[in-house]
Amino acid sequence: MSKIYPIDSIRQDFPILRREVNGSPLVYLDNGATTQKPQMVIDAISDYYTGINSNIHRGVHHLSQLATDAYEVSRAKISQFIGAAHDHEIIMTSGTTGGINLVAHSYGNEFVHEGDEILISEMEHHSNIVPWQLLCAAKGAKLRVIPMDERGVLDMEAFQLMLNEKTKLVAITYVSNSLGTINPVRGVISKAHAMGVPVLLDAAQAVHHIALNVQELDVDFLVFSGHKMYGPTGIGVLYGKENWLNAMPPYQGGGDMIKQVTFEKTTFNELPFKFEAGTPNIEAGICLGSAIDYIQSIGLDAIAAYENDLLNYATESLLTIDGLRIIGTAPEKSGVISFLLGDIHPYDVGVICDKLGVAVRTGHHCTQPVMDKLGIPGTVRASFAMYNTREDVDALIAALQKASQMLQ
Ligand SMILES: Cc1ncc(COP(=O)(O)O)c(C=O)c1O
Repeated sequence: MSKIYPIDSIRQDFPILRREVNGSPLVYLDNGATTQKPQMVIDAISDYYTGINSNIHRGVHHLSQLATDAYEVSRAKISQFIGAAHDHEIIMTSGTTGGINLVAHSYGNEFVHEGDEILISEMEHHSNIVPWQLLCAAKGAKLRVIPMDERGVLDMEAFQLMLNEKTKLVAITYVSNSLGTINPVRGVISKAHAMGVPVLLDAAQAVHHIALNVQELDVDFLVFSGHKMYGPTGIGVLYGKENWLNAMPPYQGGGDMIKQVTFEKTTFNELPFKFEAGTPNIEAGICLGSAIDYIQSIGLDAIAAYENDLLNYATESLLTIDGLRIIGTAPEKSGVISFLLGDIHPYDVGVICDKLGVAVRTGHHCTQPVMDKLGIPGTVRASFAMYNTREDVDALIAALQKASQMLQ
C-alpha cells in the first residue's frame, strides 16, 4: 500500500503558510513564479551567517574551509538529484536565465556561425527566447520557432522537418510556465541527436515536479532555478555534459575561473570553476542543497502524484464555473492552470482573489508570443506546490465566483 502523503506536516514546515493576507488565511497559488521556503532552508541560511560565513575556494583558514566544503557538498547533492555523471558538470549560476545566457554566449560563440539555425518552441519563456535572439543577431544566425497547436501541444512533425544540417542547438522548455504543457522531451532529444544536434532543456518548471535523470534523458544542457524549488533566490544550475563544457570557452572572466594569470596570457581553471567567475552566492548555493534534502525527505514521486491529483481536482472544479475557459489543454500537464473568466480582464480577477487572500498571477507570464498566438491579453494562472491542498483550490473557486458576481 502506498504511504499517505504527509500534507499536514509539510504545511507545518512552511511558516509563511500560517500568515494571513487581507484578513484571510494565505492561499498561495503563485508557485510558478516562486515557491515558499521550508523552515529547514530558512534555518540553513541563518546557520550559514551565524556559523561559517566566509569566502570559498581560496582560504586556508577554518571558516573558509567549512564554507567551501558546504558549497561543494551542495554541488554533489544537486549532481545526485538530477543524476549527473560528474559533480563538475554542475555549474552554479544565478538562475535559469543565467544558465541560458551562459550557454548562448559560450556555446554560441564557439559553435554558431552565420547562416546556422537555433530551434526553440512557440511556448518558451522570454528567458529562452531573448538570449538566442541576441546570439543570432550577433552571429547572423537564424532563430526558428517550432509551432504548437491551440491546446499548447508541440508539433513534433513540424519539428522533425525543421531539423537540418544548419541546426546548431534545440532549446526547449520541459514544462510550459503559462500553459502547463509537459513537452515530449525524450522524443525531442532523440530526434535532435539523430541529426547530431545538442539539446538544452529549460527545467525551471519541471525539476521540482517531475523526477528526472540527465543521463537517462541523454540531455546535453539542463537549466533550473533554486527559488522555484523551495530554495533561495539568486542561485540556479546549469548542467552540461562534460564534453560540451570542456569544448566551450569561459563565459565571464574573473577570480576562481583562472589557473594562472599574466598580462600576456591567462589559463583557465578546470570544470566547474571555469564557468564560475567571481564570488558566487555562497549561502544560496549551500542552501539549495538543503532544499533538495527537503524535497528528497518527501520524495519527488510522492510529490508528483499528489500534485497531479490536485491539478485534476482544480481542473474539474474550475470547469464548474460559468464562462470559465482553461487556456492550455494539453493531455500531459504539470503544476500550472491558466484560465480566463468570461470577458473579465485577468488583472481584475487577480485583484479580487488577492482581497480574499488568494495569491494568483495574472498577465502574460513572460510568454508574450503564447498570448499573441492565442489572441488573448494574458491569463490568470494558479500554480501548485507540494504544500497546496484541495481547500486551497476551494478558496480559489470561491474567490472566482465572487469575481464573477461582481464583474460580469
Ligand atoms: C519556464 C521558465 N523558464 C525560465 C524562467 C526564468 O527563471 P528565473 O527568473 O529564475 O531565471 C522561468 C521563470 O518563471 C520559467 O518559468
